[in-house]
Amino acid sequence: MRTHYCGEVTEALLDQDVEICGWVHRRRDHGGVIFIDLRDREGLLQVVFDPDRDTAFATADRARPEWVLKIRGRVRYRPEGTENANLNSGKVEVLGHEIEVLNQAKTPPFQLDEDDVGEDVRLRHRYVDLRRPEMQQNLITRARVTGFMHRFLDQHGFLDIETPMLTRATPEGARDFLVPSRLHAGSFYALPQSPQLFKQLLMMSGLDRYYQIVRCFRDEDLRADRQPEFTQLDVETSFMDEDQITTLMEQMFRNLMREVAGVELPEPFPRMTYAEAVERYGIDRPDLRIPMELVTVGDLLADVDFKVFAAPAADPRGRVAAMRVPGGNALTRKQIDEYTEFVGRYGAKGLAYIKVNDPAAGAEGLQSPILKFLPESAITEILSRTGARAGDLIFFGADKAKVVNESLAALRVRVGHDLDLLEGDWAPLWVVDFPMFEYDEDDGRYYALHHPFTAPQTESVDELQTADPEALLSRAYDLVLNGTELGGGSIRIHRPDMQSAVFERLGIGAEEAREKFGFLLDALDYGTPPHGGIAFGLDRIVMMIAGAGSIRDVMAFPKTQTGACLLTNAPAEVEESALRDLHVRVRKPQKG
Ligand code: AMO
Ligand code: AMP
Repeated sequence: MRTHYCGEVTEALLDQDVEICGWVHRRRDHGGVIFIDLRDREGLLQVVFDPDRDTAFATADRARPEWVLKIRGRVRYRPEGTENANLNSGKVEVLGHEIEVLNQAKTPPFQLDEDDVGEDVRLRHRYVDLRRPEMQQNLITRARVTGFMHRFLDQHGFLDIETPMLTRATPEGARDFLVPSRLHAGSFYALPQSPQLFKQLLMMSGLDRYYQIVRCFRDEDLRADRQPEFTQLDVETSFMDEDQITTLMEQMFRNLMREVAGVELPEPFPRMTYAEAVERYGIDRPDLRIPMELVTVGDLLADVDFKVFAAPAADPRGRVAAMRVPGGNALTRKQIDEYTEFVGRYGAKGLAYIKVNDPAAGAEGLQSPILKFLPESAITEILSRTGARAGDLIFFGADKAKVVNESLAALRVRVGHDLDLLEGDWAPLWVVDFPMFEYDEDDGRYYALHHPFTAPQTESVDELQTADPEALLSRAYDLVLNGTELGGGSIRIHRPDMQSAVFERLGIGAEEAREKFGFLLDALDYGTPPHGGIAFGLDRIVMMIAGAGSIRDVMAFPKTQTGACLLTNAPAEVEESALRDLHVRVRKPQKG
């Protein structure tokens, strides 16, 4: 129906006739002349209607926002001084000759260029919201990203293979979405949290290199970068070790960023062990653009007369850490109180600090409510370890290591942004040498830090069975970008004895292992090649490239924070008869 997209009409088409289709973005009446900004996926185009074309003029006069029009007209320069440098078509306009109303529209629930439309309204009328140029850009970026991934992986011999959506629970650590079976009364499918076991089985089947851009389902608490259904780029390969896999994936990611975002990333990406990341940043996905680090000072404070520090300093699971804030001396009492409240959300019971006026002057050059508790020698050493300079401030966290790490890691990001301390735009990082197991205080047991199919660094089953579980490292790796975990993977266990030993250390007995993963254990017996892989969070990658503030802005039809789809009103109650077919009886939560 058209010769060009609106956004494609430029000087190159001067004096030519074009036919365009699109939505009325704005209509203005300028004393006898009607201007219509027509919008389509590729951009806006200004169309002018003169009264001497009376039928076209009358139709243009009637047109209202979001009507769908087809227009024929001639391209000409805009009058001098009325060019719009923000538009691709901004140097030209079309003089409208003919206009056809393809459809009318009710007044939309919100103006497309209105800034503070509530997200609920946007999601309820998503079809209108997605007309906004930013949203269209985000989805176009998303398609460019997946297009790139398909091309790259195809070129490198990876096969796009689908895996089931109706399946059994795989342990990625979240709660499953369950689907009741009609044919098997009382039994349930689980929607996949990832295709982890299927992709391993494909390696066992000799497919050698697999990938899939695949939907995954996790029933977990939602955040700005989490959705209950999200998309992974899922990859698995045989006969490659962790260096080869991370090198190839890094090459893919670097080329992707160059091609789609015009961003040049360093080569190679820096690597850091999990232990170092937690020691220096309190977290296994540090944002390396923020020039602040945690420094352990507990060894200086075990004997001080200040229980807040002395107790965690003496506790093997405790930590006392200091973090220097460059220029932080200027923070007001009120700001420090706000930060204290902020770290409280992570369980910290306080936020001690020292303001540094003159580090050379000892205690004289400092200001702090806790100075009186600290011996001069400890203070001097703290100043030296943190590298404190005049004008800085030092924050302290003292508690269980987990609380100190989580609270100071979050504070570091918050203060880094508040004080505008970020250096550079893009900081990728591979995190390696993860522990195999992580102790959960609440459950009193160990969990696999990645997943239970991840290979340990030791080849020895005996060592796996006897070593201190917290000392065992895995062959897992994560790709982090600007403090966001974009992807994670590992070399997998390919020997049945090792897999059984890992299940055992996780407290999964032989019987339970057989019940849940019998098919995997069997398959391991029939000629399994060494293999490994990785999965990237596609939504998160697009979010970062698009600079979107929320994962919902890079998904066409996302869920709200409470997992609802406001457009379709899912989830919804169903007919009693449907429940009966599924052998399900609903137990409503009791009031209160
Ligand atoms: P993992 O659980 O680390 O690994 O998931 C891989 C990546 O998926 C993204 N991601 C999410 N994105 C949006 N919303 C969510 N709820 C969500 N959860 C995870 C993250 C994460 O890095 N099977 C393994 C991979 C492997 O070992 O190959 C897995 O799923 O960016
Ligand atoms: P208090 O003795 O409770 O008045 O605390 C003295 C200072 O130590 C205050 O600045 C508190 O914010 C700080 N503080 C208290 N508990 C902790 C903690 N667990 N970690 C870091 N600082 C703390």
